[in-house]
Amino acid sequence: MRTFRSFLSLMLVLSLLTGLLSFSSGAVSTFEDWQTGWEDIKASSGYITLTPGEDETQMNFSWQSSFSAMDGHIVIGTSSDLSDAETLRVKRELNIFGFEWTYNATATDLRADTTYYYQYTADNQVSEIYSFTTGSYDSTTVLFVTDSQIGRSSGTQEEIYLNDTYGWTKTLETAFENNDIDFILSSGDQVEDSFSEEQYTYFESPSLLRSAPVAAAIGNHDFYTPNYSHHFNNPNNKTFTLFRWPAGQGYYFCYNDILLIVVDSNNFMPTANRRIIKNACKAYPDAKWRVLMMHHSPFDARGADDIGNKFARHTVVPSIDEFDIDICLSGHDHYYSRSHIIKDGKVTADTCQNSVYSNPDGTLYLTQNSSSGSNYSGIGDAISEFCSFALQENRATYSIIDVVGHSLTVKSYHTDTNELFDTVTIVKD
Ligand SMILES: [Fe+2]
Repeated sequence: MRTFRSFLSLMLVLSLLTGLLSFSSGAVSTFEDWQTGWEDIKASSGYITLTPGEDETQMNFSWQSSFSAMDGHIVIGTSSDLSDAETLRVKRELNIFGFEWTYNATATDLRADTTYYYQYTADNQVSEIYSFTTGSYDSTTVLFVTDSQIGRSSGTQEEIYLNDTYGWTKTLETAFENNDIDFILSSGDQVEDSFSEEQYTYFESPSLLRSAPVAAAIGNHDFYTPNYSHHFNNPNNKTFTLFRWPAGQGYYFCYNDILLIVVDSNNFMPTANRRIIKNACKAYPDAKWRVLMMHHSPFDARGADDIGNKFARHTVVPSIDEFDIDICLSGHDHYYSRSHIIKDGKVTADTCQNSVYSNPDGTLYLTQNSSSGSNYSGIGDAISEFCSFALQENRATYSIIDVVGHSLTVKSYHTDTNELFDTVTIVKD
């Protein structure tokens, strides 16, 4: 985040002063450099994760500790030596599945453009001091990724984890090197196997995740065990629903003027997700923008031939129309696609001029490719009538969403070259 950008700026100045400036910033690790820390990552029993709080003044934390260690606590302050630190109230839950404790905490009353330092205990050990810097409250920059799916690629077990974890790390480092990011959206399939604590450890291993919160959706590889809910301390996740999978359910938060609603598209009961969307819109009625994220992609390039995508079209899309969602972010397909503007099952008359939709009547559906490169799928020749643009180059990708006042812009990039390959802007009066 901003701390990271400040560090890069300092390094740039130092390089100029010493005549060591090169065209490679060095901020993105080469595989060889990154691999030197692999044994430490493998030896770790887990990392603390940050998730957005209920709004831009809050930050949520979640971490694990072994069953025999019952001492989890966390302190936070604005002095780098923690001399002004306050102890946060910690909630402890037993993760029966992993036979360990999960600790959750929330920092409140955070100020804009301020660096906070924190330190926590796990397994009777005190962590190093980490920091995050809050964003400006007049604009928002979001990193959107999906399907890091650590454990998916092929090779020996060691090769798979090395490949997928490095691919995920490289996308994060590339995105943060080039953008001043406030938080991350990950639309599901963070890991290949929901039950694997080892895969969650690799997903959480990039050091950037100690300074940037992640709002994650529940993918079809995440929903069937409680592990997801023990790694993401999601805000506003208590909406009563008649049915939910072991991973939990959807949630929502408001950041500046954006209402972000995350639903579990594995949940086949339309009323469950409608209730979450309704509660979110009721809680934050004045938010200028409504962004919904779910794993499945109801208007993908292949006409929802995937059963999960087809379900999402029938169970979630009616609520997307009803509650005037501006943009729906998804994954699952392992290729990139962007729809036309859609409402009531039809492409509306809105046209995209110079990559800009003005006051569109409906929703834009955007699906990202794998952020780690652990798996890619083909698009096929028969592109759906709903699809405006689709791309598969078997390269990891990410999107940056910039929201300033009346404008929301999504720019999508290849990780390996940081080349921009798609841009779309929605402007609303
Ligand atoms: Fe996936």
